[in-house]
Amino acid sequence: MPGTTSKLDIHPLHDSFAVEIKGIDLSTPPTDAVFDEIRDALHEYGVVIIRNANFPDDKAQIDFSALFGEVEKSKWRNPHMRSLPHPEIFDISNLDEKDQVVTNSNEKRTTAIRGNALWHADGSFNPRRTYVSLLRAVELPPAAMGGHTEYADARQAYDDLPEETKSKIKNLVAVHSFVHNRKTANPDSPLFKDINVLDQPLARHKLVPVHEPSGRDMLYVTSYAHHIEGMDLEEGKNLIQELQSHAAQMKYVFEHHWENAGDIAIWDNTAVLHRATSGSYEGKFRRDMRRTCVMDSSSEAYGLNNPDAAKDQANSS
Ligand code: OGA
Ligand code: MN
Repeated sequence: MPGTTSKLDIHPLHDSFAVEIKGIDLSTPPTDAVFDEIRDALHEYGVVIIRNANFPDDKAQIDFSALFGEVEKSKWRNPHMRSLPHPEIFDISNLDEKDQVVTNSNEKRTTAIRGNALWHADGSFNPRRTYVSLLRAVELPPAAMGGHTEYADARQAYDDLPEETKSKIKNLVAVHSFVHNRKTANPDSPLFKDINVLDQPLARHKLVPVHEPSGRDMLYVTSYAHHIEGMDLEEGKNLIQELQSHAAQMKYVFEHHWENAGDIAIWDNTAVLHRATSGSYEGKFRRDMRRTCVMDSSSEAYGLNNPDAAKDQANSS
């Protein structure tokens, strides 16, 4: 880190962002000094991988996440998912309510899994955004069968835009919807086919919010972003699509290959985009991933939404 002497063993995973911190064991809580360094690294690099972090259980993951701020609780449990005891744990597994691997015919689950495979930032459809996500591998499929997680450096992608584009988009506001992502990922699904996104809960966030901890601007072009406020619907959709394709170019992408149960990935949703990738393990092997999320407390947290609307937000996915 510039100007400081890092005590942690930080290894770059990509030219512009994403690092692995080696030698951290989270089977017991970190000291304040170690936590501060992890958080500083997250703010600078957007993604921090810790292999064999080894949280002993869900509670330890929640307690560690709480060091970043207010941990989100899911208010609704999908009856087609396992019943995990802590509402702070989001089940990102491919397991159903009977703890069996989800198959293609399980529409209630595959639509969400496909939605996760589109570029997104967690919780951008909520009036109050998500800041940190922490994903922990509890059980992984065989290494060669996929199930990697991709990240895109949305700050670098913004920096590299032509000045003319920057000034054109700098003050725009995108309108986000949970269902928009699901419809895009599942165009033929009867679950979403007849739903009009504009009749659904909508959240307004700047297209280029500042990432307060680093002072850098970010392209918040998630697959929940449906259109641009005050712009023709199609024109806005095309602009979002164009910017998302720009941010998702290979040169901005880091693909994290999970290695061991006990590995964790921590990312800053106010700095990077991410997506799940598919694999030949799907429908065959267990992938038990558990996520905690921390609410954004920066000045961009509520976007242009009424903070009162955040009180009963959905808090999922
Ligand atoms: C998430 C997510 C990707 C993955 O947990 O928010 O998008 O690879 N996960 O499971
Ligand atoms: Mn996600």
